[in-house]
Amino acid sequence: MYPIRRNRRLRTNSAIRSLVRETIISPNDFLVPLFVVEGQGVKEEILSMPGYYRYSLDLLQNEVKSLWNMGLKSVLLFVKVPDSLKDNKGTEALNANGLMQRAIKTVKNCCPDMLVMTDVALDPYSSYGHDGIVVDGQIVNDETAEVLAEMSVSHATAGADFVAPSDMMDGRVLTIREALEDEGFEHTGIMSYSAKYASAFYGPFRDALDSAPGFGDKKTYQMDPANRFEAIKETEMDIDEGADIVMVKPGLCYLDIVREIKNEIEVPLAVYQVSGEYAMLKAAAEKGWLDHDAVMMEQITAIKRAGANLIASYFAKDVVKLIS
Ligand code: PBG
Repeated sequence: MYPIRRNRRLRTNSAIRSLVRETIISPNDFLVPLFVVEGQGVKEEILSMPGYYRYSLDLLQNEVKSLWNMGLKSVLLFVKVPDSLKDNKGTEALNANGLMQRAIKTVKNCCPDMLVMTDVALDPYSSYGHDGIVVDGQIVNDETAEVLAEMSVSHATAGADFVAPSDMMDGRVLTIREALEDEGFEHTGIMSYSAKYASAFYGPFRDALDSAPGFGDKKTYQMDPANRFEAIKETEMDIDEGADIVMVKPGLCYLDIVREIKNEIEVPLAVYQVSGEYAMLKAAAEKGWLDHDAVMMEQITAIKRAGANLIASYFAKDVVKLIS
C-alpha cells in the first residue's frame, strides 16, 4: 500500500526497467512470410505492402540467406500462381515441379537449416480464388480436405518441415496428419491456422498473390469476428486432430482470443500479424502520423505479451534490425 509501495521505483531508469521487463522480443519469435513468383531476377514491391516484395527463385536464395544471417530461422512460403494454371480443384498445387515445390527445394538447398513452413490452401491455385473446391456455388469440405492432404504430402516430399493449412475446412488437420503418416512423413509437422477469422485485414495479401475470391466471401469457412468460444473449440479440435502448433489470425484485433486460447492449451501458439496490419502502420508512418519503429515494437510486444509463442510478421526483419 502507498507509500510503502511506490510502483514508480521500478520505472526509475532504463536499467531497472529492463531488469523487470516481462516480455522480451528476439529473432526466435518470428516466422517470416515470403512471396514467391515465377521468373528470373524478379524482386517486385507489393503495392499495398511498402517494403515487402515478391521474389523469383534465384533472388529468393539471397533473401533467405540474409534472413538466416539475421537470426531468423523460419520461413512461411506463399506462391503467386499464373492465372493459366488455376482451376477449380487446384490441380497445380499437386505438381511435383510446381512453384511451391521448387521454392521449398531452393530454400533447403541454399540454407539447409532454415525451417520451411508452407501455406496449404487452394486459393492461390483456384480459378475462383477460394480456399476450397467449388460445387454449385458452395465450398465443399471433405473433397477439399483430400486435396489439401495430397498437397501436404507433396510439400513434405519436396522437403517442407511443417505444413500450414490456412483454409479452415473441418477435419483437414486429421486428414493431413493421416496422409503424412501413411506416406512416411511422421516427422513433418502441422501448424494449423485454427482460429482464422473472416477478416478485412487480408486485402493486401490478396493483392500480393492475386488471390481475392472471384465471387462471394470466405464467411462459410473462416470465423465470424464476433465469436470467442468458437475459437477455443476450433483450436481444441485441431489439437485433437494432431496439430503441433496452432494459430490465431489476424493479430492485434484478436489478442483477447490469443490470451484465452493460451490459457486453455499446451501446444505452442502462433499469431499471424497480417498484411492489413502491416499496411496500416506503413501508411500512417509514410504520412508522418505515427512513429514507425516505436509503434511496430509496441504491437509486436503486445502480441507476445498476449500469449504468442511465435509471430508470423512482415515486420520480422525491421524488428530484428532494430533490436540488434
Ligand atoms: C490464404 C491465406 C490468406 C492469408 C494467409 N493465407 C488470405 C485469405 O485467407 O484470404 C492472409 C495473410 C495476410 O493477410 O497477411 N489461405
